[in-house]
Amino acid sequence: MGYPLEILVFGLLSTGPLWAGVQCDINLYKLYVQPATVQEGLCVFIPCNFTYDPNDASSTATLYGYWFKGGCFNSPPLVATNKPGETIAENAQNRFILSEEVEQGNCSLVINDVQNNDDGDYCFRMEKEPKAKWSFKEILKVTVKELEDPVIHFSRNLQANHHVNITCIVPRSCYLKPPRISCKTMAGNFTLRASEEQSSDSHVHSVFDFTPSVADNKQNLTCAVTYGNTSIYKETTVLLNVKYPPQTPVISSELRRPNKSSENETDVSQIIVEKGDTVILYCKAVGNPSANVTWLNRTNNIIGDNELVFSKVTAQDEGDYTCLANNSEGTNNKTFRLLLKSSDKPTSALFAVMGALSVIVVVILIIAVILIFKKYQRKSMIDMESHKTLQTPRSDSSPNDQISQQMVLCTSG
Ligand SMILES: *[C@@H]1O[C@H](CO)[C@@H](O)[C@H](O)[C@H]1NC(C)=O
Ligand SMILES: *[C@@H]1O[C@H](CO)[C@@H](O)[C@H](O)[C@H]1NC(C)=O
Ligand SMILES: *[C@@H]1O[C@H](CO)[C@@H](O)[C@H](O)[C@H]1NC(C)=O
Ligand SMILES: *[C@@H]1O[C@H](CO)[C@@H](O)[C@H](O)[C@H]1NC(C)=O
Ligand SMILES: *[C@@H]1O[C@H](CO)[C@@H](O)[C@H](O)[C@H]1NC(C)=O
Ligand SMILES: *[C@@H]1O[C@H](CO)[C@@H](O)[C@H](O)[C@H]1NC(C)=O
Ligand SMILES: *[C@@H]1O[C@H](CO)[C@@H](O)[C@H](O)[C@H]1NC(C)=O
Ligand SMILES: *[C@@H]1O[C@H](CO)[C@@H](O)[C@H](O)[C@H]1NC(C)=O
Ligand SMILES: *[C@@H]1O[C@H](CO)[C@@H](O)[C@H](O)[C@H]1NC(C)=O
Ligand SMILES: *[C@@H]1O[C@H](CO)[C@@H](O)[C@H](O)[C@H]1NC(C)=O
Ligand SMILES: *[C@@H]1O[C@H](CO)[C@@H](O)[C@H](O)[C@H]1NC(C)=O
Ligand SMILES: *[C@@H]1O[C@H](CO)[C@@H](O)[C@H](O)[C@H]1NC(C)=O
Repeated sequence: MGYPLEILVFGLLSTGPLWAGVQCDINLYKLYVQPATVQEGLCVFIPCNFTYDPNDASSTATLYGYWFKGGCFNSPPLVATNKPGETIAENAQNRFILSEEVEQGNCSLVINDVQNNDDGDYCFRMEKEPKAKWSFKEILKVTVKELEDPVIHFSRNLQANHHVNITCIVPRSCYLKPPRISCKTMAGNFTLRASEEQSSDSHVHSVFDFTPSVADNKQNLTCAVTYGNTSIYKETTVLLNVKYPPQTPVISSELRRPNKSSENETDVSQIIVEKGDTVILYCKAVGNPSANVTWLNRTNNIIGDNELVFSKVTAQDEGDYTCLANNSEGTNNKTFRLLLKSSDKPTSALFAVMGALSVIVVVILIIAVILIFKKYQRKSMIDMESHKTLQTPRSDSSPNDQISQQMVLCTSG
């Protein structure tokens, strides 16, 4: 290869020490750098090395390195150098840092807090007295892109109370402080199990312990990262799908009686009905995936799904029924008791007995009153008779006598 046009043009346009480089054997001036894609807000380390012709340089002279933005011509903005007293472009100050080992051919560059306008080409120049002064034709291409969101990895098959590892992957950064990564759900923060385990040059992996609960289903899991001491913050949220077995079924009843309004109850475990009533039992159980519900009778035969209908309850219907809820995660059940109110006959019999009893009591009372009355009557008759014997001779009592006697009794009583 001949002299690259760029170098020639550069050499011609340049003045002073820049001329010197053109005279050198360019094959010894080489720069190795890879294009860099960097993320806004982060710190990025761009490895770079270079070689020069030691014959051009005095071993006692200091090697100065310069990174220019855009190219090495027409007084481009200087973004980093190890030469004291140089003017650094304003928006590059304290952000672009050249390796401290330039002397060893190290042109690595650190860019802190990458900004969108850092995007572009960069040119490196070295100067070492007396003649090793060179602007390298190899250009560093920097592409700035928006900061990536954290990526969350975990088993998509989350089961309640089963531990999983949640891995949060964020872009690596070269800030002194490592990125701070945290993951949480509504219930709280996760504990960090390990960081870096499977990390790469470009990304940091943090692994968190997580044991999802039923309450975490349909809730957000958020992993967040903060970089440096700036307010650079990114988070990613995923909606959790936590599988769990059916919870205890909830049974509701609807009782329909002839010519009466229906009676509904929820969360019941038994119902007392009368023969001829119509009863509908509903069973529901929450679970994820949604539970399949069946009704079983005492002999565990499936006799219904969500609804169990007894139209006109008979004595045979009395007994226990089990609602069985089932999904891929497990089963749960609840037993319901259907009771028959003792029929109308025994109640009317009771009334009959009670009625009979009260009649008997009344009769007994009447008899007692009559008996007492008769006894009293007889006693007064005896009294009168003894009185009569004193006054009048003994005679057979006539009906008239009896009436008068009664009248006496009445007036005296
Ligand atoms: C310079 O970098 C290149 C590629 O990046 C590498 O192969 C080479 O070993 C490096 N040389 C030195 C002296 O570090
Ligand atoms: C170059 O310098 C940087 C920063 O001073 C350092 O981290 C890196 O290891 C150096 N590279 C080599 C190849 O020595
Ligand atoms: C979680 O990761 C650890 C290693 O960090 C591993 O030993 C364990 O088996 C993992 N647990 C699950 C449930 O994947
Ligand atoms: C979770 O972490 C945040 C920030 O580190 C803290 O403010 C919060 O109190 C923690 N919550 C729980 C439940 O530990
Ligand atoms: C989950 O987060 C999204 C935003 O990322 C929000 O719109 C949604 O309301 C959240 N859902 C819950 C259940 O918190
Ligand atoms: C970080 O904080 C230090 C001291 O608090 C400050 O000097 C430095 O400029 C800060 N860095 C950034 C990138 O904000
Ligand atoms: C219910 O009402 C209907 C008419 O509305 C009547 O024919 C029937 O005898 C009633 N049944 C009972 C048990 O009262
Ligand atoms: C009982 O529930 C049934 C069906 O859900 C409904 O049609 C009826 O109106 C309810 N009755 C009462 C008294 O709420
Ligand atoms: C529920 O289970 C019954 C009996 O095993 C079955 O016939 C039915 O298809 C299931 N339904 C659902 C939604 O899985
Ligand atoms: C349960 O249902 C099955 C099928 O309907 C029936 O054969 C069996 O007699 C029932 N068992 C009881 C105790 O009612
Ligand atoms: C759960 O229901 C499915 C049908 O949906 C059935 O195939 C399976 O046997 C049931 N499991 C149990 C334990 O009842
Ligand atoms: C209902 O659950 C209990 C334990 O909770 C179990 O012993 C019983 O066998 C279950 N009944 C049915 C019909 O699955």
